[in-house]
Amino acid sequence: MKFFIDTANLAQIKEAQDLGVLDGVTTNPSLMAKEGITGHENVINHYKAICEIADGDVSAEVIATDFENMVKEGEVLAALNPKIVVKVPMIREGIKAIKYFSSKGIKTNCTLVFSAGQALLAAKAGATYVSPFIGRLDDISTDGLALIEDIRLIYDNYGYETQILAASVRHPMHIIECAKLGSDVITGPLSAIVALMKHPLTDIGLAQFLADHAKAAEK
Ligand code: G3P
Repeated sequence: MKFFIDTANLAQIKEAQDLGVLDGVTTNPSLMAKEGITGHENVINHYKAICEIADGDVSAEVIATDFENMVKEGEVLAALNPKIVVKVPMIREGIKAIKYFSSKGIKTNCTLVFSAGQALLAAKAGATYVSPFIGRLDDISTDGLALIEDIRLIYDNYGYETQILAASVRHPMHIIECAKLGSDVITGPLSAIVALMKHPLTDIGLAQFLADHAKAAEK
């Protein structure tokens, strides 16, 4: 299972990369804005900076919503670095753009996916990744994890190679449940990834080991 970090914050990307378990980065226009990154040149430079820090795939989202401009933007983004995955929204023009990018060998991430039907279309268009937003579904009292289960079943029925990238992950249990359901990738905040390592019995056990070792050394 791949772990992506969902942020445009360079310090957090570096921290996750240094931890040794990071497989990639996802960003979106809201995350870029949160870091104060505005204007075409700054955004482009920020993607380059992310690619320098992270080893794996880096999703960079197009802003255009029409086919022609999505293609123009996506081709510029893809040319920045081989790690770049062009992130395209699940809309009619987006499906056409994903099909185009797929025919050109450009990696894509179909974003803003909230139903199994949308995920099926993304796979048919040849998306590299599909991003169901599980946290946002949970936010409106709909089972986000049930969507991961449905997409896994559908993709396995037909052998689609599109990778399920569970997005809008909010906490460690989302990651564990996604792993049980066979999601290929999760993307979430560093806090959710780091929380996986915490267990009180680990802390208590280590404190005991160290205390016993110190006592033995005194003898
Ligand atoms: O990058 C897309 C997705 O992960 C957004 O998450 O927490 O804003 O719903 P969130």
